[in-house]
Amino acid sequence: MEIVIAPAEELARIAADAIEGLVRSKPEAVIGLATGSSPLKVYDELARRHTQDGLSFAQTRAFMLDEYVGLPAEHPERYRNVIETEIASRVDFAPDAVQGPDGLADDLPAACAAYEQAIVDAGGVDLQILGIGTDGHIAFNEPGSSLASRTRIKTLTAQTREDNARFFDDDIEQVPRHCLTQGLATIMSAKHLVLLATGKGKAEAVHQLAEGAISALWPATVMQLHPHATVLVDDAAASRLQLADYYRQTYASKPGWQGL
Ligand code: F6R
Repeated sequence: MEIVIAPAEELARIAADAIEGLVRSKPEAVIGLATGSSPLKVYDELARRHTQDGLSFAQTRAFMLDEYVGLPAEHPERYRNVIETEIASRVDFAPDAVQGPDGLADDLPAACAAYEQAIVDAGGVDLQILGIGTDGHIAFNEPGSSLASRTRIKTLTAQTREDNARFFDDDIEQVPRHCLTQGLATIMSAKHLVLLATGKGKAEAVHQLAEGAISALWPATVMQLHPHATVLVDDAAASRLQLADYYRQTYASKPGWQGL
C-alpha cells in the first residue's frame, strides 16, 4: 500500500494524473466512481482537463460504487444524479457508459447480481476511486461487512446517516436507511484502488485502514490485501498515522519512473 501525504489540491492532481494516464493509454478503460465529498476536486480536475486539454472519456466506461435504496429517480441526492452532476455531464462519456446499482429495482437481489455481471462483462474495473467513511466503510460496506462480500443491500449505520445528513438539509430522517453497495470482494477485484481522504474526521479510519489489524470492524482494512492500493491523504487525515514520517520520506524519494 502506498500512502501519499499532501495538500488536497495536490492529491486531486495526483489522482487525476493516474486516471488521465490510464485513459490516454487505454481509452476503453473502466473506471470506478465514488460519490461524496472526497473525489470532488478530482472530478473538477478531470472536467478541466477534458475542456482545456482534450482528455476524452468517449470510449471509457464507469461503474458507481453504491446507491441509496428508494430515493425517487429525480431526487438530487440519488447517487446516479450526483455522479451525473459532478462528473458525467462535464465530460464526454457515451450515453449509458456510466452505470450504477439500481436502488429502485423491484427485485433488489436480482439487480445486485446483474450489476456484478455487468462489471465482469465490461472486463472489470481498471482504476477504482474510493472515499472512506468515518466508521471505516468503503463504498457502503459498513462495519461487520464480510470481507468476501459482493454487491448487495446494506443497512447504513447511524454514524453514516449522521455524516450524510449534510446532503439532506441536516435532517437525518431524510437520509435513507438502506443502500445497494459493491461488496468488499467486488472492490478488491479492481486492478488499482485509489482512496482519497481529507480532514481530521477521517484520521482514525485512515490509521486503521493502513496500520490496523485486518477486520470486518474496519472494512477498509481489507485494502491491505490489495497488491496495488494507493491512499491519498492530507495532513489532517494523516495525523494519526504511526509511520507518517516514513510515508513522507518514501514518497519524497520515489523513483520518477515508478508512477502511482
Ligand atoms: C460513496 C461512498 C462512500 C464515501 C464515504 C466518504 O460513493 O462510497 O464510501 O466515499 O462515505 O464520504 P465523503 O467523501 O463524503 O466524506
